[in-house]
Amino acid sequence: MSGQPHRYARVWIMELKKIHLKSFGCQMNKLDSSLVTAALAERGFVLTDKATEADVVLINTCSVREHAEQRVLSHLGHLSHLKKSRPNVLVAVIGCMAQRMGEHLLAHEAVDIVAGPGQLHDVPDLIEQALTNRQKHLRVLDNIRQPAESETIRTLSDRLDKFELAYDSDADPIKSQAFIRAMRGCNNFCSYCIVPYVRGPEVSRSPQAIVEQTKKLADRGIRQITLLGQSINAYRYTAGQKTYTLADLLELVSAIDGVRWVRFITSHPGRFDPSILQVMAALPKVCPYLHIPAQSGSDRILKAMHRGYTAAGYLDLIEQAKATVPELALAGDFIVGFPGETEADFEATEAMIRRVRYKNCFVFKYSPRPGTHADKKLADDIPADVKQQRNARLLEVINAIAEEDNRAFLGRTLEVLVEGPSKKPHLNKAEHQDNPQLIGRTANDYIVVFNGPQSLTGQFATVRVTKTAALTLFAELT
Ligand code: SAH
Ligand code: SF4
Ligand code: F3S
Repeated sequence: MSGQPHRYARVWIMELKKIHLKSFGCQMNKLDSSLVTAALAERGFVLTDKATEADVVLINTCSVREHAEQRVLSHLGHLSHLKKSRPNVLVAVIGCMAQRMGEHLLAHEAVDIVAGPGQLHDVPDLIEQALTNRQKHLRVLDNIRQPAESETIRTLSDRLDKFELAYDSDADPIKSQAFIRAMRGCNNFCSYCIVPYVRGPEVSRSPQAIVEQTKKLADRGIRQITLLGQSINAYRYTAGQKTYTLADLLELVSAIDGVRWVRFITSHPGRFDPSILQVMAALPKVCPYLHIPAQSGSDRILKAMHRGYTAAGYLDLIEQAKATVPELALAGDFIVGFPGETEADFEATEAMIRRVRYKNCFVFKYSPRPGTHADKKLADDIPADVKQQRNARLLEVINAIAEEDNRAFLGRTLEVLVEGPSKKPHLNKAEHQDNPQLIGRTANDYIVVFNGPQSLTGQFATVRVTKTAALTLFAELT
């Protein structure tokens, strides 16, 4: 009895603290949020979906567009109110905006802790310290653009890696899928983009770490792995004589028993080695899906964006990809209203979309980000209403193409990984409980809805398409 009671006593006297999480931004941020909450859960924190009953409010932030930051600031405004009635609530701001704004955020009356993406592993300690000493804490990198080989970045990467391995990434055993970071940071410096300044230099994780993590997750029932990186095709890791590329990594991960589907996001059209396409074609577990943003179809704008390719170069790569990988589906991102974008530039973007015929695309209105090259050198001269119109016009073209192409799926039998019941409550009322509307995704990322038992969540199912629309395929279980 000697060792055990001590541990139970500690749990017994420890008050359970409630934590409320609000996460903005991309998949990287979602992954970071899940790692921190897993670390906090181990220390006895429990999640609550009500900010009003939380002891700690954790906000993971995004700086990619001004709108993303405004949403965080307005959220902090609400929290200032909340703190009037509950002054002991601790507010921790983490993520890209924390790194970008550091002290300014800490000066906000609602904020107690500010920590950047490079200090993720420190967040649980900072929260526990601040709960005890009630002081403000700032933990961001002073000079984030140090070389990847520098002592600071290497030490940080090692710590982050340990943290990542300990908390097993963003595993959702019910949905049987998980995201695994393959790379941190970015070195591309696209002229409009804040990411290199808030996420630091590009660092690839070792294939051993990624494989170890994937094996653990596969043992726990994870069937789909998505490898993450800002330009994942640039993955490079040298160990001894060998330099591992994304193609090597895909081979290693798909050789793991239990793993059925392997995805990777996001691809950058520059430096895209054809070996990746060959691996996609050769390995059945590697999903025939590329999220490969072009950003613009105009060479003049691509040059000003520092994207490092031309429209023709991009289209050649896409042709090669389509010719090599059967059933390949493509997704993209476009920015409208980049400084100096003329009607002719915009039409070149439209023409590119008509050539590629994406499965889906995200369209963003250019938003100047402080400190980026475009913000320093180029006037944000496209009026808001023109950006809005171009945004709407692109979405119209994208949707019309998807609607047309999706018709080819009518009557086809597809395999999907079931993600769970659809979020539309009117479709999932009590009377449908045994047979709710479920959402699944094909290997090439098509969203398929169909009715079936909820117990299919996390399973692979075979469905036949009965109706199609621009964003969704409707189907029935076979
Ligand atoms: N690393 C990924 C995406 C990172 S950000 C890639 O390179 O593809 C996601 C998307 O946000 C980008 O693809 C781009 O389309 C958009 N974006 C980034 N900075 C932006 C800005 N300043 N204004 C508008 N959109 C932006
Ligand atoms: Fe930003 Fe370009 Fe890096 Fe993507 S590749 S994160 S758009 S700098
Ligand atoms: Fe992602 Fe936004 Fe940061 S897009 S990397 S959370 S700036």
